[in-house]
Formats: sequence, C-alpha cells, structure tokens
Amino acid sequence: MPRMKSAAELEEFRQQILAQRDADQPCFTLCSGSACHATGCGPVAAAVEQELEKQGLTDKVRFRRTGCHGFCEQGPVAVIYPEGICYLKVKPEDVAEIITETIVNKKVIDRLLYVDPNTGEKATLENEIPFYKNQQRLILGLNLEIDPQSLEDYLAAGGYQALVKALFEMTPEQVVGEVKEAGLRGRGGAGFPSGVKWDFARNAPGEQKYVIVNCDEGDPGAYMDRSLMEGNPYAVLEGLMIGAYAIGASEGYVYIRQEYPLAVENLEVAIARAEEHGLLGRDILGSGFDFTVKVHRGAGAFICGEETSLLKSLEGMPGEPNARPPFPAIKGLWNKPTNINNVETWSNIPLIINRGAEFFNAIGTEGSKGTKIFSLVGKVNNTGLVEVPMGATLRDIIFKIGGGIPGDKAFKAVQTGGPSGGCLPADLLDTQVDFDELTRAGAMMGSGGMIVMDEDTCLVDLARYFLGFLSDESCGKCTPCREGIRQMLKILARITNGQGKEGDIERLQDLAETTRGASLCALGKTAPNPVLSTLKHFRDEYEAHIHDQRCPSLSCKQLIAFHIDPEKCRACGACLRKCPAEAIDGGKKRIHVIDQDKCTRCGSCLDACPAAFGAVGKLSGEPVPAPVPEEQRAIG
Ligand SMILES: Cc1cc2nc3c(=O)[nH]c(=O)nc-3n(C[C@H](O)[C@H](O)[C@H](O)COP(=O)(O)O)c2cc1C
Ligand code: SF4
Ligand code: SF4
Ligand code: FES
Repeated sequence: MPRMKSAAELEEFRQQILAQRDADQPCFTLCSGSACHATGCGPVAAAVEQELEKQGLTDKVRFRRTGCHGFCEQGPVAVIYPEGICYLKVKPEDVAEIITETIVNKKVIDRLLYVDPNTGEKATLENEIPFYKNQQRLILGLNLEIDPQSLEDYLAAGGYQALVKALFEMTPEQVVGEVKEAGLRGRGGAGFPSGVKWDFARNAPGEQKYVIVNCDEGDPGAYMDRSLMEGNPYAVLEGLMIGAYAIGASEGYVYIRQEYPLAVENLEVAIARAEEHGLLGRDILGSGFDFTVKVHRGAGAFICGEETSLLKSLEGMPGEPNARPPFPAIKGLWNKPTNINNVETWSNIPLIINRGAEFFNAIGTEGSKGTKIFSLVGKVNNTGLVEVPMGATLRDIIFKIGGGIPGDKAFKAVQTGGPSGGCLPADLLDTQVDFDELTRAGAMMGSGGMIVMDEDTCLVDLARYFLGFLSDESCGKCTPCREGIRQMLKILARITNGQGKEGDIERLQDLAETTRGASLCALGKTAPNPVLSTLKHFRDEYEAHIHDQRCPSLSCKQLIAFHIDPEKCRACGACLRKCPAEAIDGGKKRIHVIDQDKCTRCGSCLDACPAAFGAVGKLSGEPVPAPVPEEQRAIG
C-alpha cells in the first residue's frame, strides 16, 4: 500500500479492510502480553498455527495475538469469537480441543472456563466473569480487538478517525477546547488538567515545539503503560499526533524504558507502518500537517519518569530534575516549548475526539473524569489490570473485581499511588478513586498502582520497603531528599529490627515534614507518604515494635520466633525435613523442638506442619516457652 494522501484514501483503505472481514468468522484470540508470555502463550500460539494448518482451517479461522486482556494471573487467556467464549490458563495441549470442539462444533469446554471461587459458578463469556463484569474498559478493551503489529486491525476498529476529525474538521484551538471541556487530567501522577497544559505549550512563543510520551513507568508492580504500549501503540501515537497538531509541534518522542522489549518492538513496528502509509511524516493525509516521532529508550531509572529529568535524559545528560518554573511547556526539550503526557493520558485523546467531551465528562466524578486503569496486585484473589470509571470505590475494586482477600485472611490496607503513595485502612475502603478524594484520604492516585495487604503484612515494614526503593532511586541532587529518605529508612530499619528508640516516631515525623517541604522534585516531596500514612492509620503498630519489641502482624523476622507446641506435635517429621538450618531436633515418636539459636525464622516448618496438627506457631513480644524436658519428649 503506497502512502495515503487524503482522508478519502484512508477511508477507502479502511473500507477495503472491512470488506475482507466477516464479523461472524471464527477468531481465536490469544493474549500475548508480557505476562501471558511468562505463562506460556508462545507455545500455545505455535500449537494454534499448527492445528489450524493440520485441520485445513487457516483460511477459515482468524488467529489474532493481542496485547494484555487484564486478567494476567489467569493467563494465557484466549477468547473465541464471534461468541466471546473465554478460556483461561490455556496450554498447548488444549488447543486441538478448542479448535475442534469450540470453533468447529460450537461446544464450550467446561474445564477451561473461569470458576468463581466463592460461588463455584462458571462463566462462559468474558464479560460474565466478575473480574471483567464490573469494569468499564474504554481504553484497555481495545487491546482485545487488535493485533498490536497490525495497522489494518487498528483501522478496522476505527483507528485514525479521531486524527482525521481533528485535522480536517477542527482547528487546533477547538481540539484544545475539547480536551479541556472533557476534563481529562494527566494519568502520570500529578493529575494536572491536560487541556490547560496543552494551552500553555500552544501559547508559548517559539516555532519549534515538541510533544513527548512518558512511558518510563518505574513504580514497582505497575504495568498499565506497558500494557497499553504493547497492546495498542497506534492509539498512543494517534493521541500524540492530535496533541502535536493542537500545540503546533512537528516532532515527538516516546521515552520508553529499555526493560519493556515487547512494548518497544510493537511501538517501532507501529511507527514504521504508520510512516509507510503516510500516517506519519510530511503533509499527513494531505492536511499540511507534518509530524515525525522518535523512540528513546530509557535505562530504567525511576527518576527519569519525572518530566524535567526525562528531558535531561533525552538531551543525553544524567537524569536529574530541575526546579520548575520554568515548566516544560515554556522551556522544555532543548529549551523549546514541550508538552509531556503519560501513555494513558495520550490513549484517552482519540476517545475524547471521537466521542466528544460530553461523552467523556459524563463518566466519573465532579473533579475526575473518564476511566482509570489500575494495576491491582498483592493479597487479592484476582490480580491484573482493571479499568474503572473514576468514582468507583476501593471496596468495589478490591472485592467485586479483585474477588477479595485470599484464604481466610482479613483485609488490612491498600497502598495507592506507587512507592510514594499512601496506605489506607479498612475504614476508608469506601473512598472513591478520584484525584482529590484519594489525596484527602492521605494517599494519592499516582499513576495507578494498587497494592492490597492482608493481616499478615507489617505496615512498618512496608514503609521501610518503599523508603528503601526511594532511597535507591533518589538522584541525590538535593540534600533533603537524599539524606531525609536515608535517615527515615535507618529509623524504620531499626524499628523493624526490634531496636526502635523512644522518640523515633517524632523523629520520623520531623524528617518527613522536612523532606516533604524542602525537596526539589516530587520524588522527595512525596517520599514521606508511606511513613506519614502508616503513622496516621497504624501508629499502634509502630508503638508495639518500639515499646514491646512486638510485630503485631508476626512478620518482622527479628521480632518473631517459631515454636512447636508439644501438645500438638505428632512427630511426623515434616518440619524437620524442610528446615534448611537443621534447627529442629526430632526423631521417631519424639516431640520435635526448635533450637532458637540455630533458627533463621524462614517459616518453612510452619508451612510444612500438616494443617491437621497445626503444631508450629509464631510468637512475637513474648518469651518462647522453654523446650520440653528430654524425659517428657516421647510420644506414646
Ligand atoms: C519520581 C517521579 C517519577 C515519575 N514517573 C512517571 C512515569 O513513569 N510516567 C509518567 O507518565 N509520569 C511520571 N511522573 C510524572 C511526570 O513528572 C509528569 O507529571 C507526567 O509525565 C505528566 O503527564 P500527565 O500530565 O499526562 O500525567 C513521575 C514523577 C516523579 C516525581
Ligand atoms: S510437622 Fe508438626 S506435628 Fe509433625 S513433627 Fe513437626 S511439629 Fe510435630
Ligand atoms: S523457621 Fe525455618 S529455620 Fe527456623 S526451625 Fe522453622 S524451618 Fe527451621
Ligand atoms: S498479559 Fe495476558 S492477560 Fe495480561
């Protein structure tokens, strides 16, 4: 296909693609996002190709490999169209049966369906699974319709209609106005109104302007942006081009971390295909609008996600933040006006232009519009990516979509907003996901990390973990951040080691306030959040560690001991065999005893002891009972 020179040619091409497609044709859709690669979608794909060939169905059945469907924990995920039958944890040996039974004979294979662990009910269609049923997948849902390397798929799904509308039916001012009216706020962390930011860059003096996609995504456990870029890079590019047109930029960059090889690959293929077809380059579709885009791979420093560091890194310098103002919109890349948005923010643009500001701002709350994608991880039954309308409650996300807490454990807290977000306790579960509500509650939206914790998680230790991450990732440019985080980390480490001192809580609070107030960039300004939010909601845990050398969650290794209850031990030897430290003394018909000096508190004995006996227990803040005297260890 040569370069398309007009909107009419693009539409003609789309119609040709649609004419070759039959909506009723069977399609085997296999998620091939990074998580499903890890669970084995590669061999499943090979089996699909082989089996279609073997059964002579290659021309009759479409096979589409897509980006992430969201339910990564249950991958590899396959959806069979036109019915929409969803199979989970698909293995290569299931493929022949799926093709013969489901595609040819139209029968559902029961054993591959989702089973609700609470009710035992099976779900046949994807949208019957509670994980999906309670979501509104306006952005992520497109992943299912598209092979990320296929421009044809994107066009068939309506791709580039928003660009055509912007270029041919709207002035740049109207585009900015639409985004402002939609109420879109940046999805990268700060929640700044995107249209307002675009206006700054648009009105900034200067001929040369830039637009940038921030796909650095360094939060531990977060992969929303990776999945969007892997699954639908065309939508990000389309959003970027519309932004460039609105602002008056002719060059764009995608700053993407090197650790996302599949996202980089799919993005580069998308750029190459768009260039071949005249959807990037000079005089796009005959509109007079020129736009090129380059990919820059980041080396994986968390700080390079901060916009001023990102700009330095793009310019070839070490990624360190600058004071703002001047903001990038005025003085950005190579001192030119630059607009930086997050991947998810850009992905929302085609939707807003296609469906209008009114459609978009009808979703959500007063101050937060549209949907938001969260990476739901931790102690929750259904982990994965979830997209919900703004205003959904944490309870809905964790219990209705996430399916609650595994085992019989109780919910304890949820951390939203990434490493420098805040922890919210059970009594704040009805908080809505809304930029302002989450901040009011002491957490933040951040870019969409959501980590669920159960009763076994020690929140002092959790604060220590995040401060450890932030201490490693602080660029060290300013003293309050570099030293403040390090000192808080030292105090948290000694508290969790059982060496907390009187006054440590007050010292933490002082350091947190100073670090928050005096740091240069938002890494330092928000780094105290894990400490402040856990101190606010779980202060008693800090006090127990410091005053009683007790970890109420029985989690901090230095504050716990393992003990075998002589009344319950049946001398089965399971714990002894598993103990890597040879710390258990036992023998046939002899009550087993743990040598506390040798024990490394690994917990293997607790896991190994049969539930029927339940003889191994954990203690904290109390003396370990003396070992049973030798003469009383025989079991009759
Ligand atoms: C330490 C730090 C890391 C950040 N990492 C990211 C990131 O990985 N992706 C992102 O979009 N924004 C990140 N941000 C926010 C950016 O500075 C910037 O606000 C954002 O890219 C703007 O896009 P938005 O308006 O669409 O949210 C980070 C900020 C800080 C302080
Ligand atoms: S596994 Fe439990 S019951 Fe068996 S020997 Fe160890 S402590 Fe005793
Ligand atoms: S906690 Fe680990 S090291 Fe200690 S006794 Fe049990 S298995 Fe051995
Ligand atoms: S990568 Fe397959 S469901 Fe997420």
